[in-house]
Amino acid sequence: MSLKGFPPLRPITRKDPYKMVFVCLGNICRSPTAEGVMQHLVNEAGFGSYFEIDSAGTAAYHTGEPANSKSRAIAEKHGVQLLGRARKFKSFDLDHFDLILVMDHENHDNVLRLCRTDEQREKVQMLRDYDPQPGDGQVPDPYYGGLDGFEKVFQIVKRSCEQLLFKLKSQVSV
Ligand code: 4NP
Repeated sequence: MSLKGFPPLRPITRKDPYKMVFVCLGNICRSPTAEGVMQHLVNEAGFGSYFEIDSAGTAAYHTGEPANSKSRAIAEKHGVQLLGRARKFKSFDLDHFDLILVMDHENHDNVLRLCRTDEQREKVQMLRDYDPQPGDGQVPDPYYGGLDGFEKVFQIVKRSCEQLLFKLKSQVSV
């Protein structure tokens, strides 16, 4: 179980930025959308240098590929650019990042299986724990569906990231 509603908190400074990684299966649809949305929100708030934001997939099928064209089209419609290339989540990430945000139960299980310490386990949370309209608690996989599914993912991710950033902002020392 993740610690519902509570990101691991610590003072956030320019010298010691808060590091978060979003994780899905392929790292071409949901997690790049979350990375792009969170980067956009952080930049908009003037906190670009206080956060390090990344994404990864539990599978390596799409390593090196840009984000899915439908994910990019929906994000661009909302003024958000998805710039990264897919990579596989690795053990190193469990120590490097302060917060690891997974999209569904399968991602959660796969990331927890890599954890060796309680400190690592406590960093792993469901992104939708931050959604004011949490539905079934998961960000649905849009890969095999139409554009409406990608729009739905964008809206879920946006609501969740806004709420998460609201909690983290209180830790920023300017
Ligand atoms: P994502 O979506 O996990 O949100 O990036 C998927 C991407 C690719 C596949 C499944 C889901 N796939 O089976 O290749």
